[in-house]
Amino acid sequence: MNDFKQTYGPWAVVTGASSGIGEEFARQLASKGLNLVLVARRKEKLDALGEELCMQHGIDYRSAKVDLADTGILDAIETATHDLDIGLLVSNAGYAKMGEFLTLPAEELEKMLRLNVVTHMELSHYFGNRMVSKGRKGGLLLVSSMAAFQGVPYLANYSGAKSYILNLGESLNNELKDKGIDVSVLVPGPTDTEMMTSVDADMSSMPMPAMPASQAVKEALQALERNKPYLVPGTLNRLMVGLMGRRLLTRGANVKMWGTIMKRTLLPVSR
Ligand SMILES: NC(=O)c1ccc[n+]([C@@H]2O[C@H](COP(=O)([O-])OP(=O)(O)OC[C@H]3O[C@@H](n4cnc5c(N)ncnc54)[C@H](OP(=O)(O)O)[C@@H]3O)[C@@H](O)[C@H]2O)c1
Repeated sequence: MNDFKQTYGPWAVVTGASSGIGEEFARQLASKGLNLVLVARRKEKLDALGEELCMQHGIDYRSAKVDLADTGILDAIETATHDLDIGLLVSNAGYAKMGEFLTLPAEELEKMLRLNVVTHMELSHYFGNRMVSKGRKGGLLLVSSMAAFQGVPYLANYSGAKSYILNLGESLNNELKDKGIDVSVLVPGPTDTEMMTSVDADMSSMPMPAMPASQAVKEALQALERNKPYLVPGTLNRLMVGLMGRRLLTRGANVKMWGTIMKRTLLPVSR
């Protein structure tokens, strides 16, 4: 058995596995021999992916249709996983809505917070406790965003939510070390997925080009194995965070820069 499977197998849970970064996590984990619980709303996509990965890698899979922006998600998650030995949670499902904060409907903002904040907390708490109570090693991999490093105007709710995930994961990385649970946060920049094409914005004016999800996921899994608290995938993204975010600009100037970029990105489409 390979080391990765021994540490984080035999089963992994991947949320948001029906497309993009989550689908790529499922593919790369299956190639390492892990069985998968695939979670999202589009069950037909989860099943098609699960069948394909079973054929390709001889793994087992389960799919669970769950709206992770609902309250009480743990009942459905428990039903889908209670009899499995879960060694890894990839809490990836997320959603971004760009626009002026005051004009976005409050109910939609609250749903976004449930999906992008509360669900990550609930799943980390639930699976972290399950792993520790079994006395086993394991991992929690949370997906944040470069929007977490400072406020991002016109993406305010998302930016706030993603900073919660980054700080949650960074804290747990330290807190759970002695319990044998590795915790890493993937902090992607623009990534070539459905999210990039579904937002109401012209993403071509972003300063960094979108990277393939496969690269982000490969780097994230390496970071988890090294138990790095967080990982920004891609050299250009790391330069952007290091130079613009920390060395060249003050925090306030960085927020202002992102406000200008986002306004340019957003307004031609939403007007
Ligand atoms: N793409 C980027 O540029 C980028 C950059 C930084 C961070 N991220 C983060 O990366 C993560 C994955 O996004 P992606 O880029 O891969 O986007 P994506 O292709 O749109 O995938 C989003 C996934 O989340 C699931 N999801 C969304 N709302 C859900 C809900 N209410 N309940 C259950 N599942 C839900 C979707 O499945 P269903 O629709 O089937 O439910 C889908 O599988 C997100 O957390 C996102 O914030 C992305």
